[in-house]
Amino acid sequence: MEIIRSVDGIKEKIKQIKKNNKSIGFVPTMGFLHEGHLSLISEARAHNEIVVVSVFVNPTQFGPTEDFENYPRNEEKDAELCAKEGCDYMFIPEPSDMYREGYNTYTEVFGLTEGLCGATRPSHFRGVCTVVLKLFNIVKPDRAYFGQKDAQQFAVIKKMVFDINLSVEVIGCPIVREADGLAMSSRNAYLSECERQEALVLSSSLSRAKALIEAGEREAFTIKEEMIKIINGSKSSNIDYVEFVDNRSLKPITRVEGEVLIAMAVRIGKTRLIDNMVVNL
Ligand code: PAJ
Repeated sequence: MEIIRSVDGIKEKIKQIKKNNKSIGFVPTMGFLHEGHLSLISEARAHNEIVVVSVFVNPTQFGPTEDFENYPRNEEKDAELCAKEGCDYMFIPEPSDMYREGYNTYTEVFGLTEGLCGATRPSHFRGVCTVVLKLFNIVKPDRAYFGQKDAQQFAVIKKMVFDINLSVEVIGCPIVREADGLAMSSRNAYLSECERQEALVLSSSLSRAKALIEAGEREAFTIKEEMIKIINGSKSSNIDYVEFVDNRSLKPITRVEGEVLIAMAVRIGKTRLIDNMVVNL
């Protein structure tokens, strides 16, 4: 595996790969890799001749009071994990190379970005779309792999790719969880031992929702009340949102019918965690 740190360097490499007609699978990440990320790399490995993983903590998707500076980083371990998973090229650019002096171009998807996480993180998806489009232009992948863990991000990226006619195929991969149900996240590293236990209220509330739906409940309000009770059962939790939305439009729904995304963002202490589940009835 080769580590490439400059935009020009990876562009040169991609040119050679394209000349040889090799397919490229791409996994964009912000590093501090865990099994969730590795599942995407493994999927990319299975279906492409060349696998590129980017590690870039993207400043434009963090709000002014968010954790950009403190976001966990461990390049050495990331490189080890990527190599083990069969990645060919790791792209680890500097912010000053991705956003050169005077940078002033942004990409925005409207309609899917105002609700859910977008409500409290107003410029987040603009930053995500901007960097992902830039990365797509640099890496020119045939396929790009994203986790369902960030359900809204996945929907937004798919919409961007469709709307502006990009040729990349966007592939969604299931949420990878710890044995006790907690969705894996780089931000889990922020949790104290006690908070780590309390963080289980997110996945527990989704399990409760699943059980209620299986028992025939269809009123989103009723299920949501039950979920909120479970989440508020933890003393360090603070709900940002718990929402039932149509999985395509991301617009709120009142009855559980069709493809429904049940999504939440909850603060456990100072750590903001997200989780979700899609039900198809
Ligand atoms: P990051 O949070 O590092 O996540 C990179 C990819 O890994 C995303 O597609 C995310 O959905 C996926 N992922 C994270 N946790 C997962 C889990 N438990 N199971 C399955 N997949 C999981 O998402 C970002 O970075 C950034 O916004 C990025 C797209 C790289 C743009 O900067």
